[in-house]
Amino acid sequence: MIGLFDSGHGGLSIYAELRQSFPDLDFIYLGDHGNAPYGDRPSAEILQLTQRGVEQLFRQGCRLVILACNTATAVALRELQTNWLPHSQWPGRNVLGIIAPTVEVATQTPFAVTTPQYPQKNNRDVIAVFGTSRTIASQVFDIEIRKRCPKVQVVSQACPELAGAIEAGAERKELARLIGGYISSLLDKTGGVAPDKAILGCTHYALVTDIFRVFLPSRTRVLHQPIAVASSLENYLERHQEYFGAVRAEASGLTRLITTGDLSQVNRSAQHFLNGFPAFEPVSSLV
Ligand code: DGL
Repeated sequence: MIGLFDSGHGGLSIYAELRQSFPDLDFIYLGDHGNAPYGDRPSAEILQLTQRGVEQLFRQGCRLVILACNTATAVALRELQTNWLPHSQWPGRNVLGIIAPTVEVATQTPFAVTTPQYPQKNNRDVIAVFGTSRTIASQVFDIEIRKRCPKVQVVSQACPELAGAIEAGAERKELARLIGGYISSLLDKTGGVAPDKAILGCTHYALVTDIFRVFLPSRTRVLHQPIAVASSLENYLERHQEYFGAVRAEASGLTRLITTGDLSQVNRSAQHFLNGFPAFEPVSSLV
């Protein structure tokens, strides 16, 4: 079983793509709606909440957990992988994030390659990055992209109210007002130059890609993070048969969605995005 973790239902955008790519595998999705949004929380809190979420998913029997959340990946992934997991009571399990696959697609360079290579070292694209305040403050996208493509100009824009508005089930008109405003601030920073590519660096934003598309200049290519994550997971599982063998052996195409939030509210607001997915259950129903 593969676990997916997000602060709320943004990670469903990742789940939907993984379900298409891996129709036979079992997924369990934990939305920490009770504590969402994460984007403006202090890093120490995000780390603690993310570790708790991962442990919950391990307890449900997941061998592999993907942080389907850029904020949790930016703030907590490295700490969990290097300082927590090796000393935890969970041997033979792993936690993965979603920023590395996105950087790979944006730079056309494998993540393991950390120095500029031809021809990407001459890439002069302008890349727009939208994310939560915490993700943008971490500068993780700028740092990782510019390591591989030093001539690329990364222009970042925090969208502090957007994930919360999506969680709350805000009307499209309100979401369009917010997104239009964030894009216009970003274009002020580029001096009106249309970015070559845009990264929606928060999984909630992938749920409203169509609204971003309306406001972004037509020549800007929007990178679809869920596709990047699905193809990277495929690659990872091929290279790590210890996980793939185990998750395949026990799989039957099952999906469960669990939440720490108020059940009826979560199901009502997630309905816009769920499209035939099972309803969320309370975390306690699986403990
Ligand atoms: N969906 C999350 C992300 O990818 C977090 C949004 C939030 O909780 O602020 O960053």
